[in-house]
Amino acid sequence: STTESNALRTPIVAVLGHVDHGKTTLLDKIRGSAVSDDEAGAITQHIGATAVPLDTVSEMAGSLVNPDDFDLPGLLFIDTPGHHSFSTLRSRGGALADIAIVVVDVNDGFQPQTIEALDILKRTGTPFVVAANKIDTTAGWNPNEGSPIQQTYENQSQNARQRLDEKLYEIIGNLSDEGFSADLYWRVQNFQKNIGVVPISAITSEGIPDLLAVLMGLSQRYMKEEMAIDVSGPGAGTVLEVKEERGFGATTDVVLYDGSVREDDTIVVGGVNGPIVTEVRALLQPRPNAEIRTEKRFEKVEEVRAAAGVKIAAPDLDDAMAGAPIRVVRDQNVDEVIDEVTSELAEIEVETADEGVVVKADTLGSLEAMANALKEAEIPILRAEVGDIAPRDVAVASTAREDENKVILGFNVDVLSNAEDELEKTGEVRLFRDDVIYQLVEEYTEFVEERKR
Ligand code: GTP
Ligand code: MG
Repeated sequence: STTESNALRTPIVAVLGHVDHGKTTLLDKIRGSAVSDDEAGAITQHIGATAVPLDTVSEMAGSLVNPDDFDLPGLLFIDTPGHHSFSTLRSRGGALADIAIVVVDVNDGFQPQTIEALDILKRTGTPFVVAANKIDTTAGWNPNEGSPIQQTYENQSQNARQRLDEKLYEIIGNLSDEGFSADLYWRVQNFQKNIGVVPISAITSEGIPDLLAVLMGLSQRYMKEEMAIDVSGPGAGTVLEVKEERGFGATTDVVLYDGSVREDDTIVVGGVNGPIVTEVRALLQPRPNAEIRTEKRFEKVEEVRAAAGVKIAAPDLDDAMAGAPIRVVRDQNVDEVIDEVTSELAEIEVETADEGVVVKADTLGSLEAMANALKEAEIPILRAEVGDIAPRDVAVASTAREDENKVILGFNVDVLSNAEDELEKTGEVRLFRDDVIYQLVEEYTEFVEERKR
């Protein structure tokens, strides 16, 4: 019933919280997938995006969400990593979000990245709810698959209820220590003044209907003005990943958070060697409820409107950089847009020294995470770049003065075959590669320690 120009934008919901508290599992439950099972080291190391249509939301929420009460198209969920190294990805996820879910494990309670998430949301003024997760682990808990929280709560023994209450009140107390007035969500009247705490289990789905109802209510009531933006304006987004796609060459997976992108649009994308100006060949949309990071089947469409995940095929995207901004140029001046992208890229910087190791990573976000992890371990960086390991990296690494610094640390990247030749020829540069950041740093520190013995 909405017209073209005032169609409501899909709200972006960021899922934030400490490592292992259950963010990906919660999203898996909502979209009916098993992304978390296939993650390297069982931790999330990228930002992900999943469009969940209103139908799915109301199906999961049962009587708690009547689709007729809402004119939002659905919700776009952004998964974020909880591991401490990924602070930039969390702030980016938080900054993109219209609303957020802070996931807290009821057993573990508040942890450093819980507090970090709250700080980000405070700073960006993003409304949020707290999902008190893993209630099924309460001793003596009797699970009721998919049940709203109050129903399942009433079916528990006195003891189990008491144990859960204690954990929930501890979380409410922790929130209060951070300056938020919070309560169990059914006691909250004004969700802008008070933070609602929703007890859930991402395994048994208990409480997930309530969580979805609160999210939908929050977006509909408080975000309506912001959602009614002109979704037909020139699009803006962030590159999640650069991927080879058969028949298309290099493509970029993008979270479009503003405006629209159409076939044949001119776009500016942040690249390894500066902004890339190119033209959209094809727009490929993941299926509803699919995580764009793992989706294999895409539908070709003519236009995509925010907020959405979309794979963009265009010439010259080989050097596009994951984590970089992407902008559609429609009525604006191309040079102005190029300047915007350039200055956004300049904000993302890794501290380097004139002696240290060479770091390569698959995305800007993971490069920053590597830099954070190395700084913590007091390992200096000579050069840090996004991309596969190339002969030039070997040459740079061999210029390090200390032998222990003549190394390349590659996170989630390949070694180009001519770089392998170069490594063999030089013979003095060591290569460490892993797809789990802390393991990569550990491997290197162990190597350094062994050398000292
Ligand atoms: P990062 O992405 O690394 O920050 O972790 P995450 O917050 O996405 O956690 P993830 O979903 O990967 O879950 C971590 C572990 O907790 C997994 O073994 C899950 O099966 C388990 N888990 C998540 N939610 C629940 C829950 O509600 N109940 C129980 N019993 N286990 C859960
Ligand atoms: Mg995760």
